[in-house]
Amino acid sequence: MKTYEIEKTLVSEDEVKRIVERLGAEITAHYGELERELMVIGLLRGSFIFMADLVRQIKIPLVVDFLTLSSYGDGTISSGDVKVVMDLDSSIEDRDVLLVEDIVDTGRTFGKVIRMMRNRNPRSLKVCTFLNKPAARLVDIDIDFRGVDIPNEFAVGYGLDYAQGYRHLPYVGVLKID
Ligand code: IMP
Ligand code: MG
Repeated sequence: MKTYEIEKTLVSEDEVKRIVERLGAEITAHYGELERELMVIGLLRGSFIFMADLVRQIKIPLVVDFLTLSSYGDGTISSGDVKVVMDLDSSIEDRDVLLVEDIVDTGRTFGKVIRMMRNRNPRSLKVCTFLNKPAARLVDIDIDFRGVDIPNEFAVGYGLDYAQGYRHLPYVGVLKID
C-alpha cells in the first residue's frame, strides 16, 4: 500500500478527547433513566474507535451492536445505494436506539440507515456523529448529538480510512496526496 503524509490536523488528540467527553455527557443527560438499556448501534467500520471511546463516557446502562454497510456498488463512486453486509444481532423493536457514525458527509448513507431503522419500530431513535461536513450535504439529516463540523476535505484517522489505511491514527487529519 502506498502511504502518504498528513498535510494538516483537523481534530487533535486532545480535542477528540474533549469532544467525546462532551457527547457522552449530553447523551447521559438526555436519556436519564430508561426502562431498558440504551441500544448503541455503530456503523462499521468507520465508527469502531469512536464507539469504543463514546460508550465509556455514557453513564447509563447500555448494550452495543453493529451494522456493516456497503454504500458502493461495484465502482468507487458513491451510488447512494446502501446495502446491509452484516445486520444487527438483535431486534430494536420497542427499544431506545442511538445510531453512531464516524462522519456525515453527503448524508446519503445515514439517511438510508435512519429510514431502515425506523421501519423496525424502535421506541426512540437518535443519531450521533463524530464528524460533520455541512458543506457536502445532499440529504437533510437531523443530527441529535454532533461532535464537530469540519471543512469539505477528505479526513482520515480516528476510524476514518483512505483505502482502508490510517484508521488507527489517534487524531483526524487530511492527507497530502502528491
Ligand atoms: P455519506 O456521503 O454521508 O453517505 O458518507 C458515506 C461514508 O463515506 C461515511 O460513512 C464514511 O465512511 C465515508 N466518508 C465520507 N467522508 C469521508 C472522509 O472525509 N474521510 C473518510 N471517509 C469518509
Ligand atoms: Mg462510515
